[in-house]
Amino acid sequence: MIEKVWKEGLARRFGAAAQSYERQSEVQQKTAIALSGLIKKGLGNRTPLRILEIGCGTGYLTRALYDLYPDAQWFVTDISLDMIKQCQSSFIEGDADQSHDKGNLTFSVMDGENPDLEGPFDLICSNMAFQWFRDLEGSLHNLTGLLSLDGVLAFTSLASDTFELWHRCQQELSIERLAPEFPSTNFYEDSFSSVVVEIEKQLFVQCHKSGLEFLQNLKDIGAHSSGLGRKPLGTGQLRRLLKKYESYFTDGPIEADYDVIFVLCSNR
Ligand SMILES: C[S@@+](CC[C@H](N)C(=O)[O-])C[C@H]1O[C@@H](n2cnc3c(N)ncnc32)[C@H](O)[C@@H]1O
Repeated sequence: MIEKVWKEGLARRFGAAAQSYERQSEVQQKTAIALSGLIKKGLGNRTPLRILEIGCGTGYLTRALYDLYPDAQWFVTDISLDMIKQCQSSFIEGDADQSHDKGNLTFSVMDGENPDLEGPFDLICSNMAFQWFRDLEGSLHNLTGLLSLDGVLAFTSLASDTFELWHRCQQELSIERLAPEFPSTNFYEDSFSSVVVEIEKQLFVQCHKSGLEFLQNLKDIGAHSSGLGRKPLGTGQLRRLLKKYESYFTDGPIEADYDVIFVLCSNR
């Protein structure tokens, strides 16, 4: 029950950010482009016929991959209906060449941790959504079970060093970490012992004018949910935390580190 309420809150926050998301999500846009390149390389000359996307958001990855595989049968999903609508409308608005009938795209609300679509899929993909999963290991096993024989599961997610300085400041001030924990590279290596895994990591840095702008940015993209059961900071705690964080950037912009993991796996 607590988890259900938490997920509803998460979907609501992302939904509320559906309009502002693309103005504020430079890192997510970059990782979507990089992931589509990795998928293209990983699939080589194979063309996926059935594709499932999880956590499509406004559609950065959907659009990049649709350009590569316009004839596949697409199942585009997200936990937030408003994000789905935004993604869907971006296909209508951005339909410059009109050369493909978009009837091969099906959009639906789905919790990627509990997929209600039947496999097999030749490609299951996701950009920057799995960090919100409660049972990542179980979910990854379920998803690889939906792959076709030579299907590929490819995703990016946040890894353990994301916002490392911010979390270190919280620790030094004895303030409980608010964000969910993000797994390390070892987690992925251990969780996928039975499937082929390729793992890459890349650090992305987003610059802000102030610590407050960093927090506002998370809100504008809907990524400000706390971990399950964690309480929001008090005003005094927040003020101290922002002051400490900003004290590390006296000579330049306030930086936020995104430690992004790229994972590709298949059952072969
Ligand atoms: C940071 S956004 C990334 C969106 C998009 N993939 C992109 O490339 O910009 C995370 C997305 O994951 C979705 N999401 C979070 N938890 C999810 C879940 N359990 N199942 C499906 N979607 C989820 C959110 O609603 C949001 O749209």
